[in-house]
Amino acid sequence: MDKIIIEGGKKLNGLVDISGFKNAALPIISACLLAGERCVIENLPRIKDIFHISKIMSAIGSEIEFSEKGIMVIDTSKVEKLVAPYDLSRKIRASYYLLGAGLSRFKEVEVAYPGGCDIGTRPIDQHIKGFEALGAKVEINHGVIKCKADRLIGTKIYLDVVSVGATINIMMAAVCAEGRTTIENAAKEPHIVDVANFLNSMGANVKGAGTDVIRIDGVEKLHGCTYSVIPDQIEAGTYMVAAAAAGGDVIVNNVIPKHLESIIAKLRETSAEVIEYDDFVRVISDGKLKGVNIKTLPYPGFATDLQQPMVAALSMAEGMSIITESVYEARFKYIDELKRMGANVKVDGRVAIVEGIERLSGAKVRATDLRAGAALVVAGLIAKGKTEIDNAFHIDRGYENIEQKLSNLGAKIYRTDR
Ligand code: EPZ
Repeated sequence: MDKIIIEGGKKLNGLVDISGFKNAALPIISACLLAGERCVIENLPRIKDIFHISKIMSAIGSEIEFSEKGIMVIDTSKVEKLVAPYDLSRKIRASYYLLGAGLSRFKEVEVAYPGGCDIGTRPIDQHIKGFEALGAKVEINHGVIKCKADRLIGTKIYLDVVSVGATINIMMAAVCAEGRTTIENAAKEPHIVDVANFLNSMGANVKGAGTDVIRIDGVEKLHGCTYSVIPDQIEAGTYMVAAAAAGGDVIVNNVIPKHLESIIAKLRETSAEVIEYDDFVRVISDGKLKGVNIKTLPYPGFATDLQQPMVAALSMAEGMSIITESVYEARFKYIDELKRMGANVKVDGRVAIVEGIERLSGAKVRATDLRAGAALVVAGLIAKGKTEIDNAFHIDRGYENIEQKLSNLGAKIYRTDR
C-alpha cells in the first residue's frame, strides 16, 4: 500500500498547473453514453476515479482511449444495455451517474448502490424521486438499483435538498424525455454548468444551469462532440490553502478565479494575500495565519470539500477558528488523525473548534477519505519533522501527481510502498 512521506517546514514557491475537474469529468464521461457515438473529452485529470469510471464504461461495451495528455476518446455506439458490474460500480460514488444516463438511453438500467468517501449517510432519495417523477420505476434489491421506464415524460421536480448529484442525474435522465422538465432548488455548482454545456454540445436543450431553476426541453436524439472539462476548483483551493499555510509565493495556474471566490475571501481573512488574474491566482503568505470562522454551504458558499484542508491550515493559525460543516454530518473523522500531529480541535456534532497551536509535529497518520488525505498533506507540509500518510490511494482518487506538483513548489515529499 502506497504511503506519502513529507518532511515539513519548507516554504512553497513557483507555479502549479491545475488539472481538469474530477467532479465534472465523472458525470461527463458517463453522459457520453447519451450520444451513442464517438465523443472526445479533453482536459481530464489522470486520477484513480477517472480510471475507475472508464473501467466501468469499458466493461459495459464502450471503446475508450485515454491519452497521457488527458484526452479521452469514448465511443458508446456498441453499448446495447446498461448493467454495470456490481463490484466495480459499488466502489465509487459517481457510478450513480450511469443511472441517469442509462435510463435516458436504454429506458432500463442496473447499477450497484454507490460507494465513495465515508463522510456521512449520503442518501440518493432525491435522485430516485427525480427518476420516478419522470416516469421510471425504481427498485433496490440485493445492493442493486434498477430503474425502468416505458416512457420518460418531462415534469416539474422540486429537490428537497440542494444536491449536486441529483441535479446532474435528473438533467441527464431528462434530456430526451418528452416535453419540458423543470428542476427547482437545483444545485448551482460550476460543474452543473459544465455538464449542462456538455449536454448542450451533444444537442440537448438545457437552460438555467448555474441558477436554482433548470429547464430541460427534451430532444429526440443526441450526438457525439468534442468538449473540454473546466479546471478543478477543489484541487486549486487545496494548493491555495497549502501555500497560505506553508508560506511562500505560489501561482495556481489554469483556474477560473470566479469559481474560487469563497476560498479567496476566506484566505484573505486569514491574512494571506491573494491576487486574481484572468486564469490564475497568486497566493503570497508568510505562513502566519489568523483564525477564521467557516460554514460550509452549497456553491457559491464555502465548499465542503475544502473544509478538511482548511482545518489543517487553521490548526497552526493564531487564535480560535469555528468550523461548521453543514453539508455532511460526518466529515470531521479525519480530525483524530490531525490530533496525532498535536492539533487542538474539539468536535461537537457538526461544529469543530480549532485552537491554533505553535507547531504541528510530524507523525504516522492515515488518510480516511480523499479530502482527509489532502488535509493530512497540508498538515505534513507545515509540521515539524516527518509525516507518513498511509492509504495514499484515497489521495490518488482526486489529485493528479500530487507529489510531483508539490515537489516542483519546493516541498520535500515522496511516495513509498514500504
Ligand atoms: C458531490 O457529491 C461530490 N462528489 C462531493 O465531492 C461533494 O462533496 C458534494 O457533491 C458537495 O459539493 C462527486 O461529484 C462525485 P450532494 P454528491 O448530492 O453529489 C444530501 C469530493 O471530495 N443528499 O450535493 O453525492 C447529502 O447527504 C467529494 O470530491 C440527500 O439527502 O453530494 C448531502 O448532505 C466528496 N439526498 C447533501 O445532500 C440525495 O438524494 C449534498 O450532497 C442526495 C444528497
